[in-house]
Amino acid sequence: MKKLLAFVLVMALSLSLAACGGTETTTTTAAPADDGTTTTTAAPADDGDESEAPDNGGDASDIVVGFSQIGAESDWRVANTNSIKRSVEEAGFTLIFDDAQQKQENQIKALRNFITQGVDVIAFSPVVESGWDEVIEEINDAEIPIILIDRATDIEGDDYYETFMGSDFVEEGEKAGNWLVEFMEAEGRGDEDIKIVELEGTVGSAPANDRASGFRNILKDHANYEIVASQTGNFTRAEGQTVMESFLKSVDKIDVLYAHNDDMALGAIDAIKAAGLKPGEDIIIVGVDAVKKAFEAIVAGEMNCTVECSPLLGPQLIDNINKLMAGETLDKRTNTIESLYDASNAEQELPNRVY
Ligand code: AHR
Repeated sequence: MKKLLAFVLVMALSLSLAACGGTETTTTTAAPADDGTTTTTAAPADDGDESEAPDNGGDASDIVVGFSQIGAESDWRVANTNSIKRSVEEAGFTLIFDDAQQKQENQIKALRNFITQGVDVIAFSPVVESGWDEVIEEINDAEIPIILIDRATDIEGDDYYETFMGSDFVEEGEKAGNWLVEFMEAEGRGDEDIKIVELEGTVGSAPANDRASGFRNILKDHANYEIVASQTGNFTRAEGQTVMESFLKSVDKIDVLYAHNDDMALGAIDAIKAAGLKPGEDIIIVGVDAVKKAFEAIVAGEMNCTVECSPLLGPQLIDNINKLMAGETLDKRTNTIESLYDASNAEQELPNRVY
């Protein structure tokens, strides 16, 4: 925190100097990602970039950002990591990155290391919602600001963090449910008994909990829709495939697959094809994330809908860190603006997808 205050003073001094003379921009060049904890220190550069470093002559690389990422379980997660790494580096800050490999104990260890290392900001995407009270208290005691990225915790109140940046997962589940009901009606199947299997995300994670409840919020008003089997596929393509294989063996009639992310939907598509069925026709498939491969599957007629959940949070993170350093209070929540894609618009959007 002391470094933040010092940085604010440097910013203020630099701004007044800038009024009398010129200013200097500091940016970084991107470094390749790898597993475990890595530190990337900024180097001066003068090319244009997406994530604005403070144009004030202060030494941006003195600002150390600790980012505890969940893992690399999906295309979404990889795109999220890349977006944040690139933006932090472009802004000129020093990044300490830790990949927790989907384990809460690894994340807790990384957070404690960030405290020991005296980072200036902790950016953190909690793998599950519960079990963070102790370590969050330690971070708060150390007066290190927390920015929650993508996922929230179940700790009551919002005093313990500066801002939450990410998607409204309940709304995503509701969008998936509404799309399905409207699609079935348009197909003339609105009154049929519809049997749904669900591939859930990581047990106890915010997106798994919320996408499940959002979807059910819509289905509860449609008695002919029934979720007949629901199991976690851990947000991975491999587990999506194996769980779908077992659904296909154990469930008599499957009309619809609702997958909490596209990676699991894509794995399930492989299982459906291997079972001699036509994905997208024999089984209607709804996913979440809107990754490029889901667009390709929709264009190929093998998937029907994906609800967008944008991982490109890097520039917004930099904006928030800059505001924090300038002493501003952040809005507690910024929702990402997102769309929904199906056969009506996927082909047109496909060339624009960056993840
Ligand atoms: O928290 C966001 C979710 O995490 C994405 O939907 C999923 O693909 C990722 O692993």
